[in-house]
Amino acid sequence: MRIIVVVGARPNFIKVGPLMPALAAAGIEARIAHTGQHYDATMSDVFFSDLEIPKPDWFLGVGSGTHAVQTGTAMMKLEELLSAERPDALLVVGDVNSTLAGALAAAKIGIPVVHLEAGLRSGDMSMPEEVNRLVTDQLSSMLLTPVREADANLVAEGIDANRIHFVGNIMAESVLRNLERIRSRDVCAAYGLSCGGYVLATIHRPENTDHPERLREIAAALLAAPLPVLFPVHPRTRPLLASAGIDGASNVRLSDPVGYLDMLALQRDAAAIVTDSGGIQEEACMVGTPCVTVRRNTERAITIAVGANRLSAADAIEIGRGLGEALASERVWERPERWDEKVSSRVAQALLSGVIPLAGCAE
Ligand code: UD1
Ligand code: UDP
Repeated sequence: MRIIVVVGARPNFIKVGPLMPALAAAGIEARIAHTGQHYDATMSDVFFSDLEIPKPDWFLGVGSGTHAVQTGTAMMKLEELLSAERPDALLVVGDVNSTLAGALAAAKIGIPVVHLEAGLRSGDMSMPEEVNRLVTDQLSSMLLTPVREADANLVAEGIDANRIHFVGNIMAESVLRNLERIRSRDVCAAYGLSCGGYVLATIHRPENTDHPERLREIAAALLAAPLPVLFPVHPRTRPLLASAGIDGASNVRLSDPVGYLDMLALQRDAAAIVTDSGGIQEEACMVGTPCVTVRRNTERAITIAVGANRLSAADAIEIGRGLGEALASERVWERPERWDEKVSSRVAQALLSGVIPLAGCAE
């Protein structure tokens, strides 16, 4: 079997980390097409080296742009590539614009789409990722889900249950495979922080960054935190922080985005995490660090159900309350089902069981 795997943005790279060796071990020839949605060394290269991901076979150089420009450019380049290569399937991961572009380009030329991390729903159509998830899932021939609730979401949207495989959470597998590698990695000391003595923060979602009043509230909450805060800053957020009231000269220490292994160590050693990231909600749940998610909703509801995570509006008082609760909470909860080290091998098994083409698009 010959497949192409599309990646483009930071969370995509992490998802293919454990996947590539499992596909190779199962005898599946998998090659990577990198759209170039993320391109800075700190947003792309570092993940390939940290996770020993094979170099992409294709780098499409799409770069930044509006949603339509970015998605459309990636579609054009992927269509050309897929038409020339005609793989047995195209595997897309997550919910970013590169995911959607891959699904659209492949489905329209009759190449079956396999979606890893299918079926997550926030129910919030103002989120670009929710649009990407819904469309990608409708176009997918095989849907690989991270939680049982995702299977139910897909069935409720009319997707044939035979196409759905509950494989578990690949981000969780990556955490488990890499925690051992970072056992003695002491990253917080490099920032002058002590283990258990700081809060880790990341904020990059447009619903927070693109509303100055919300970003100001989040900044006020971090400035008032009872512990020093380390904030590795996403390039989207960087130019907006000074006007929100964070200049790096306070208890909130700013850094460039950090590599995956450093980030995992920083999450493990933090007293609590404040974030709006999808992946970090899951990783916090895996490393045992209580999390406050600054969003109105989450597609990772399972992390709240097990007691690892809580939602907060972008409001300084509410975030402060959530952080207080997180800092006081137990660091022990039940790990969600199939958030284990076998996710990538379940993906390989599902692929080998045969991808059923969508009706009418068989060759
Ligand atoms: C994208 C995803 C989001 C994901 C996030 C992970 C979509 C719609 N959004 O959001 O779901 O959570 O990635 O990090 O796909 N930039 C750089 N260097 C880079 C990449 C981006 O400077 O290497 C800057 C550019 O100014 C760019 C901005 O960041 O315009 C936003 O990048 P983009 O990929 O459009 O969206 P993200 O906010 O990163
Ligand atoms: N991450 C990282 N360095 C950082 C910030 C995040 O390695 O400075 C990792 C994080 O540990 C997780 C992934 O990036 O594995 C999440 O990506 P992001 O928050 O950008 O996107 P989302 O998951 O929200 O789509």
